[in-house]
Amino acid sequence: MDALHYLLVLVSLLLILYQLTVPKRIERKNVLPRPPSLPIIGHFLFIKMLLKLPLHEVLNKLCNKYGPLFLLHLGKRRTLVLSARSDIEECFSKNDIIFSNRPLLPSRKVVEYNFTTLGAPYGNHWRNLRRFFAVEVLSPKRLQLSSTIRTEEIRFMIKYLFQTSFQGFVKVELNSFLYMLDFNIIMKMVAGTRCFEENEIDTDRGKDKLDDLKQSFSPVEPLALGDYFPFLRWLTCYGAEKKILNKFKKRDAFLQAMLDARQNLDKTPSVSGGGSEIDQTIIDVMLKLKEFEPEFYNDDVMKGNMMAMLMAGTHTTVITMQAAISRLISHPEILKKARDEIDNVVGQSRLLNDEDLPNLTYLHCIINETLRLDVSVLPPRESSEDCTIGGYHIPRGTQLMVNVLTLHRDPELWTEPNSFMPERFLQNEKGGGFKFVPFGIGRRICPGSTLAIRLMTLSLGTLIQCFEWEEAETEDKSQGVAKHKLNKRKKCVKMIFRPREALTQVLAQL
Ligand code: HEM
Repeated sequence: MDALHYLLVLVSLLLILYQLTVPKRIERKNVLPRPPSLPIIGHFLFIKMLLKLPLHEVLNKLCNKYGPLFLLHLGKRRTLVLSARSDIEECFSKNDIIFSNRPLLPSRKVVEYNFTTLGAPYGNHWRNLRRFFAVEVLSPKRLQLSSTIRTEEIRFMIKYLFQTSFQGFVKVELNSFLYMLDFNIIMKMVAGTRCFEENEIDTDRGKDKLDDLKQSFSPVEPLALGDYFPFLRWLTCYGAEKKILNKFKKRDAFLQAMLDARQNLDKTPSVSGGGSEIDQTIIDVMLKLKEFEPEFYNDDVMKGNMMAMLMAGTHTTVITMQAAISRLISHPEILKKARDEIDNVVGQSRLLNDEDLPNLTYLHCIINETLRLDVSVLPPRESSEDCTIGGYHIPRGTQLMVNVLTLHRDPELWTEPNSFMPERFLQNEKGGGFKFVPFGIGRRICPGSTLAIRLMTLSLGTLIQCFEWEEAETEDKSQGVAKHKLNKRKKCVKMIFRPREALTQVLAQL
C-alpha cells in the first residue's frame, strides 16, 4: 500500500469513528428525528440548499417530512428546529434562560465589537444594554418624544410624492422609497440628520447611496465556513470572512464618523448646555451617560448600539410594509376597509398622526396579519446548559431555530391559515401565548416592537389616507428563473400613487 492508500484508510476510520461517537454524545436518552447526514459535514449540504431556497421553505419541507421537532448537524453546529407551539412553549417558559444566548459565531467576533453589542451573551453586559434601550431609546416617553421625527419624515416623503405627481400620478420603486423613509427616520433618531434629501429620492445618486447603506447595514452575511468547521478557521483571510470583515470596516468607519461629528457638536455650548430633550439624539443620550459611566459607554458599545438600530430597525420594517402593501393591492376590499376606518377616525381635513394610532384598530390588524404570514424564522439562539425539550435530551451548545412560518400557519391554531384575513385579530383569534410570535419570545424578545408597530402603522396609514395605489409594472425577472427567486422580483415592484382628490388641499399645505 502506498502512502495515499494509508491516508485514505486513516481518513475513513476517522470518519466512521466520528459518526459512531457523535450521536451518542448528543442524545443520551432517545434520538431526535433528523435527515440522513454525511460524516463531518453533517447536513451542511442543506446549507447549500438554504442559500438557494428561502430558509423557511427548506424548514417547512423538512418539518413535513421529519415532524415539528428535528435536528440538523451543520458541520460542528447541532441545530434544533422547532415548529410546534408546545415545544416552543417548553423552550421559552421553563428553559428561557438556558436559551437566552445567541450563537457566538467566530466570524461575528470583530463585527459585533468583541460581542459587546446586543448580540452579547446573556449576562450583565447584555442586561445593561437592554436597560439602555428600554429606558433611553424605546421607552414610552422616548417614543413620544421621537414621534415628531416620524411624523416629519413621513410627511417629507408624502410631500415629495404629492409634488412629483404633477401628471396626476407618480411612479416610484416601492422598495427604495420605503428604505429611504426608514433610514431617514432611524438615522434622525440616532444622529439627528436624515440620510436622503429631496433631490436624492428616486434618483440614481440617491439609489447608489441607498445601495451602499443597505449593503453596510444588511443583517445577512455571507456564510463563513470557519463557523461550522473549526479546522477551516484559518480561512479568515479569504472568501466569506474577508467579505464580512471588509463590510465591517466600511460600516465601522461610517458609524465612527457619525459619532465623532456629534461628539464635536457636543462641545458647542448649545448642545452641551442641555439642548431640549426633544432634540436629543440617541448619540447625545449615550454621550451624556458616558460622563457617568465612561467605561461602559466606550466607542465600541456606542457604535454597537447605533448599528443595532440601523440594522435591526430598517430591513424588518421595510420588508413588512412592502409585504402589507403587496397584500393590500391584491385585496382591494381590505384596502378600502382600512381607508374607511382612517376617514372615520381622522377625517379628510388633516393628516393622521401618532395620537390617532390607538383608534386605528383595523390598520393594526393588517400589520399583525402581515407579520403572521410573512415573518419566517427567529434569529438563532444557543443553549447554555443541558435541558429536555419534547422528551429529548438537548445538550449545551445546541443552536435553536424557531420556524415561525409553520407555527403561524398551523391549521390547528389558525382558521384558513394561508388566507390574508386581518379580521381574525379583531375576533381575538390571536388568543393564547406562543402562537403569534413575530417579535420573538422570552428575555431576548425584540426590544423595538412598539417603535416598529408605530412606525409601520403611521407610514402605511398615511399612504392609505393620501393616495390611491396601483402596481405599475413589475420588472418580471421571474421568467426562466426558479420560483424561489420571486422574492427578489418583489423588490422591483413599481407603484403608482395618485393623490386622493379629497386630500389634495391638505397635501398642498405640506
Ligand atoms: C417589523 C419589524 C420588526 C420585527 C418583525 C422584528 C423582529 C425581531 C425578532 C424576531 C427578534 C429576535 C427575538 C428573539 O430572538 O426572540 C428581534 C430582535 C431585535 N430587534 Fe427587532 N424586529 C423589528 C423591528 C425592530 C426595530 C424597529 C428595532 C429597533 C430600532 C429592533 C431592534 C431589535 C434588536 C436590538 C434585537 C436584538 C435583541 C437581543 O438580542 O437582545 N427591531 N427583532
